[in-house]
Amino acid sequence: MRGTLIDGVALAKKIRLRVAEEAAALTAQGTTPGLTVVLVGDDPASAVYVRAKGRASEEAGIRSDTIRLPASTPEHELLALIDRLNADRAVHGILVQMPLPRHIDADVVIRRLDPEKDVDGFHPVNVGLLCAGSKEGFAPCTPAGVMAMLRAYGVETRGAHVVVLGRSNIVGKPMASLLMQAGPDADATVTVCHSRTRDLAEHVRRADIVIAAVGRPHMVTADMVKPGAVVIDVGINRVNDPAAPKGYRLVGDVDFENVKDVASLITPVPGGVGPMTIAMLLQNTVRAAFRALG
Ligand code: GUN
Repeated sequence: MRGTLIDGVALAKKIRLRVAEEAAALTAQGTTPGLTVVLVGDDPASAVYVRAKGRASEEAGIRSDTIRLPASTPEHELLALIDRLNADRAVHGILVQMPLPRHIDADVVIRRLDPEKDVDGFHPVNVGLLCAGSKEGFAPCTPAGVMAMLRAYGVETRGAHVVVLGRSNIVGKPMASLLMQAGPDADATVTVCHSRTRDLAEHVRRADIVIAAVGRPHMVTADMVKPGAVVIDVGINRVNDPAAPKGYRLVGDVDFENVKDVASLITPVPGGVGPMTIAMLLQNTVRAAFRALG
């Protein structure tokens, strides 16, 4: 293997320890940070993520509450719950796990959140602040986690050509926004590729940094990666594997086994971006609690 592994688990642990200190300081002042996670329906992957978020919150000294609602929950009931959480002074962060059941309009739900409690950074106010280059809002956790990884591993983004694969509101778009901001931590030239992009492989081959967030197993292959490029894999895909204890295993959007020989730095799946997402969520929650203090 030529590439160095980016250890998301170790880096996330460091961040979580720092967040725990901040949470303890807030608790000493009489305000324990509180995060409420709302899970609608029984998507098995979402249930795993939500459990991990709850556990990590408790470990960091953040009061965590998970509200599980049946898949048949009407939209107006979810909106009424959000109204209650918006008004609850003990709740500093609210996270509605995506995807939501098809009869619920995710945009309507996101717009109902108090932007000051939107620790996911999905509300249009926070999206707007991010696009405008302000640090006042909340940046979405996964792209913020990728930025923290690049910084921690000394990856120069200034003037670098970054190719982002995927244009989702959760990852691709905010990732591009963060990278193109003016400032020493960003300053990148960004290309966003998606399902309609022509000659996608040609774009990826020109990238100094590749960030894959498309949800397609092993889509990025070794022949698409410039030697020495940095490769960040946001994908978490379940693929059937009868030999695995659960009958499936998790793989990223990158063909790790082959790309690792070409890249200079690469994230594994699992153990790369995933733990960073949770660390950033805790960080945003503690920030929301600080801000609620006034
Ligand atoms: N589903 C996949 N990623 C995320 C995330 O970062 N936040 C929420 N709320 N749902 C998700």
